[in-house]
Amino acid sequence: MNRCAGFCAVAFLAAFTTVAAAEVRTVWLDDLELGLIKQGWGKATAKKSVQGKPLRMQGKTYDRGVGSHAAGSFYVELDGNTKRFQTSVGVDNNSNGPGTISVTLVGDGKVLFRSPVLKNGEAPAVIDLDLTNVKLLAVRMDDGGDNPNFDHVDWADAKFTVEGADPKLVPRTYPHEEKVLRTPKPPQEPRINGTRVTAVRPGSPFLFRIAATGVRPMQFSANGLPAGLALDQGSGIISGTLADKTPATHKVTLVAENAHGKAERELRIVVGDTLALTPPMGWNDWYAHYDRITDAMMREAADIMISTGMADVGYQYVNIDDCWMTFAKHKDPKRTGPQRSDKGDILPNAYFPDMNAMTDYIHAKGLKAGLYTSPGPLTCAGCEGSYDREEQDAKQFAAWGFDFLKYDWCSYTKKAANKSLEEMKKPYIKMGTILKTLDRDIVLNLCQYGMGFVWKWGAEVGGHCWRTSGDLGFELDRYHDVARRNAEHWEYAKPGAWNDPDYLLIGYVGAASEMGEPIACSLSPNEQYSYMSLWCLMASPLFYSGDMTRLDEFTLNVLCNPEVIDIDQDPLGAQGHPVVRRDDDTEVWTKPMEDGSLAVGLFNRAEAEQPVKVAWSEIGLKGKQRVRDLWRQTDLGVFEETYSVPVGRNGVMLLRLWPEK
Ligand code: GLA
Repeated sequence: MNRCAGFCAVAFLAAFTTVAAAEVRTVWLDDLELGLIKQGWGKATAKKSVQGKPLRMQGKTYDRGVGSHAAGSFYVELDGNTKRFQTSVGVDNNSNGPGTISVTLVGDGKVLFRSPVLKNGEAPAVIDLDLTNVKLLAVRMDDGGDNPNFDHVDWADAKFTVEGADPKLVPRTYPHEEKVLRTPKPPQEPRINGTRVTAVRPGSPFLFRIAATGVRPMQFSANGLPAGLALDQGSGIISGTLADKTPATHKVTLVAENAHGKAERELRIVVGDTLALTPPMGWNDWYAHYDRITDAMMREAADIMISTGMADVGYQYVNIDDCWMTFAKHKDPKRTGPQRSDKGDILPNAYFPDMNAMTDYIHAKGLKAGLYTSPGPLTCAGCEGSYDREEQDAKQFAAWGFDFLKYDWCSYTKKAANKSLEEMKKPYIKMGTILKTLDRDIVLNLCQYGMGFVWKWGAEVGGHCWRTSGDLGFELDRYHDVARRNAEHWEYAKPGAWNDPDYLLIGYVGAASEMGEPIACSLSPNEQYSYMSLWCLMASPLFYSGDMTRLDEFTLNVLCNPEVIDIDQDPLGAQGHPVVRRDDDTEVWTKPMEDGSLAVGLFNRAEAEQPVKVAWSEIGLKGKQRVRDLWRQTDLGVFEETYSVPVGRNGVMLLRLWPEK
């Protein structure tokens, strides 16, 4: 049989028809798969505002279009034959709120349209874009420079004029970017890294591993170590209990030596009541293992923290999140069982057969161990919480040898008498007070998602760091907006009191909603460097929460730059924040450092490369400045009044400036 006879004729005819009469059609944005529009609040809605009301701007209603909310973004895949995109965009007029937004539309990495700040009650911006040959339209909705309150965005009459395939909303994507390794390989000679100041309460056990890069074997020594502490010369682990319990600051000179050279650095050991004098650093298992976590995985993470060199730049805590206890019900029977012993002691599930053996294992490496519970009857994942057993549990955690506690509100809502500030503080005051009575130092992390302006009272109730918002895993692509929100509370950060914008979710991480196996992070390489820079500028706790067994060279490069980490760990404890924000989507963040220098982040939040500039006068500086590129660890020179540099899409240039004498 000649198979081609019929088939080929049809194919030929079809091709001929397409070429001869390329049909010009209208495709409405409201007919596309709107679930792919990412936004800060609510859901993108067809033909209605984000509140489900008729689309309305400056008193005029529109039958077609999409109601959305800033900050947000969407990506439209085109085949090059979409001719136009037309819409009127502005703030929906149904609410009386002071919404302000701006939008940017980028075609294949080139800015095609940038609106001014659009306000509620004002005329929408009319957009009519030529999209010929464009393959990817990236749309960003921003908060207009203030905050996202009432930022209801209407894309009225939004439509594409199409000659080829239908435009398609696609998940977040970005033009190809090389995974450039910015952090140089550590030199062979020793460099001492991480915190320069550490605290211990009078009488508590002390443990500190000197973080140092450089070729092993390395020989450590410490001059001025207070009596009661001993240093292991081969591993650099200092441990013991200080003989003198008087509050004091002991200045110790740490020395690391190998075949290639010698490094010295001062470490201040502060005997006093305030812990976490610099933001805690480490790993938390949540976004890698969820309800699959085991003792073996925790030990493995500790091993990897050492073998990858993470511990050599200052990572220290190895923390279990939720799910180490038993569940009432779980698909894995080994995770169920009695919640407490006859004496009421909390019981770990069968995957944690011996907590003391596990913390001993972690401590033997000079690292510290952390765990998690809730003040409510159940944790967020549904395990046994500490409600009404706070003291018994806290004592148990100390007896098991833990050094860090994440205290997650979760089901406490059911126990709080009302929504008053007093009720919000209550469980944290309780735990904070109990921890102070223990003979072990336990850093307390308040996890209650920023309720009741926790940054104003977190330290006073005994917390050392507090989450300022919900789970970052639900809005990772908005890490920069999350950072901006967290940075609004910069005045409250100080040694022992840190705003926590949540974990470092790069490498292989699971999706917060599914709790599935980790997948490759969806942020671009530039974005990952920006993310880490923001976290360091904000003096955030630095907890990596991806899969330790799948750390690759690039992820480690982002996580392990000692000069970048120095910004985070600076003993002054100031939190950086944005000081200049321009309409072209560039931002300048600054963070004052203890030595009188200034850390400066130049951020480009646009979808395309552009120069980002800073004038010394804008950031409170006078005179010549010596400028260093921290990611690449190179001096850029001395600059008189300004500095400007091209920065890639969603990228950063992280600098440190010293006044030039
Ligand atoms: C909450 C917290 C997360 C994580 C989970 C565990 O969602 O915010 O960080 O601890 O609970 O269930």
